Amino acid sequence: MPCRSDTPDASLSKNRPAEPLPESLAWIERELESIRDAGLERPTRVRSGRQGATVGLDGHTFLNFGSNDYLGYAGDVRLSKAASKAACAQGFGAGASPLVSGHSEAHDVLEKTIAQWLDVEASLLFTSGFAANTATIAALAGPEDSIASDARNHASIIDGCRLSQARVDIYPHRDLSSLENILAAAAGARRKIIVTDTLFSMDGTIAPLADLSDIARRHGAILMVDEAHATGVFGTRGSGLVEQAGCASGVHLRVGTLSKALGASGGFVAGHASLIHWLRHTARAWIFSTAHPPAVAAAATQAIRLVNAEPDRPATMMAVINPPISRKPAMPTRFTVKICAPNLCSCSAP
Ligand SMILES: Cc1ncc(COP(=O)(O)O)c(C=O)c1O
Repeated sequence: MPCRSDTPDASLSKNRPAEPLPESLAWIERELESIRDAGLERPTRVRSGRQGATVGLDGHTFLNFGSNDYLGYAGDVRLSKAASKAACAQGFGAGASPLVSGHSEAHDVLEKTIAQWLDVEASLLFTSGFAANTATIAALAGPEDSIASDARNHASIIDGCRLSQARVDIYPHRDLSSLENILAAAAGARRKIIVTDTLFSMDGTIAPLADLSDIARRHGAILMVDEAHATGVFGTRGSGLVEQAGCASGVHLRVGTLSKALGASGGFVAGHASLIHWLRHTARAWIFSTAHPPAVAAAATQAIRLVNAEPDRPATMMAVINPPISRKPAMPTRFTVKICAPNLCSCSAP
């Protein structure tokens, strides 16, 4: 049965009065002012209740087009139960980085479950997909190396490239001939790496994975793909676009997140066992950051089991979002859109 959240402590709403910033930070007020003047200020909205088709934000109820909870598992009580059981048995906090003593049985089960699901030798968990990308790219590449990165890659890939200090060439979105030119020019690099999202969430486009793996093979490059938005949604087993494209053997590293369709939190990288073992010695966000709680790992494992047990779920969700023509008359044809906060609008049928 769903639980109720504790009522927030009323004393928390009494903010400490703002003090003038010290001289060294005075520029912050000026920057905030220009952000406000440009109408770009980003409010923090407080969500009440669970993610779902509707969502409560700042006391209003909205139709929810603003989450990555593609399969509706974020608010699924079966994940909460798995998490509670693990927290009860293994405690809440991981207490240490995975390298030291933070890698619990729940984490171990999850890593093995991911590897089986993706049909690869091994996987490695990170506290977020962001950390998985930055740590993996920064471990793989250094100043002697060359990275070719799609122009529309996610911020975490961009930051990983910057951290690596490698030479980074950005190729226009999905432009294979530019990519070929970059790789040809990088022939003298110690390592050549191609990195791309598989499903570009802002554009809805898909990376040409078969061509990319062919190009990587011909140029002796490493192919690393980020399946953040494809994990749980594409492929017969739901493991992502690499599975759907049937080109697993040409992709050397697959990054994914547990925080979108899987409704939990954290990220992973998966591939050859030696590569994963090497990352345990080189990926700084794995070595120097506390593992996420065992309860989170148990919830993610439960989500993967559900993806396998409920293979029709992506199609069902798609039908709800995009109903077949015969059902269209039942849908409201017009919505009233009301702007009720910066960057936030509510929709209602007439
Ligand atoms: C393509 C891509 N990679 C990685 C991430 C980061 O994943 P996480 O939210 O688990 O940190 C995101 C998040 O939006 C993403 O869109």
